[in-house]
Amino acid sequence: MCTRNEAPPHRGSASLLDCAAAEAAAPTPGLRGNRTHFSRASTAGAGVLIALVLGSSAAFAQGPNLGKPISPAEIAAWDISIMPDGSGLPPGSGTPAQGSSVYVAKCAMCHGASGRGGSAAALVGGSPLTTGIDTTKTIANFWPYATTLFDFTRRAMPWPKPRTLANDEVYALTAYILALNKLIGENDVMNADTLPKVRMPNREGFIVRFPERMP
Ligand code: HEC
Repeated sequence: MCTRNEAPPHRGSASLLDCAAAEAAAPTPGLRGNRTHFSRASTAGAGVLIALVLGSSAAFAQGPNLGKPISPAEIAAWDISIMPDGSGLPPGSGTPAQGSSVYVAKCAMCHGASGRGGSAAALVGGSPLTTGIDTTKTIANFWPYATTLFDFTRRAMPWPKPRTLANDEVYALTAYILALNKLIGENDVMNADTLPKVRMPNREGFIVRFPERMP
């Protein structure tokens, strides 16, 4: 070790700088010993760590033995989201006229005759949103994508019995509601091809976070 008062024997004068350089070039035996010890310890530590990681991944592979494996068919039953571009729409079709009779039987008791509203919201009409923030938001003045009407009706309606409608019934109801709102013609057929092409009035009324994912 160099100290401020210690002069190396082979030199007449010494500075602190010389001392620091000498120590860096030749660490003391004690220090070197410590380093060796440390590196042995870290090798052992790494070994334990690897054993732990291997052990725990084996445990994960086994799982906690809870529940049971889920089959692709079971996942498909829940995987019912319809994207704005229509991906996920099932086979089937329906017209406004077909939807009208389903509506009378299964929807009118809450949404009123011809979708004009009852105990539940009107499905037709709506003031322009430019009339103010408190304006009631409806399918016609707010919803940006027609495909959402299919998704929502299929997953959530009729309110007391969701997911009981056949796909053809949902296409027909969607067609009926869109026709009531004069967004499609009275004889237009809605299916996986035509529904995504229906342009909703408020289509451009949103700030899209991921434009590249939109149709
Ligand atoms: C028992 C009453 C009831 C019946 C029957 C019913 N709905 Fe609804 N519906 C509701 C309620 C309540 C809501 C609001 C749900 C919510 O906000 O989560 C709603 C919401 C909706 C909406 C969304 C409206 C909007 O502007 O947000 C649509 C579309 C809709 N229903 C369609 C239908 C269709 C189609 C049927 C027939 C198959 C139907 N409903 C049958 C009670 C009903």
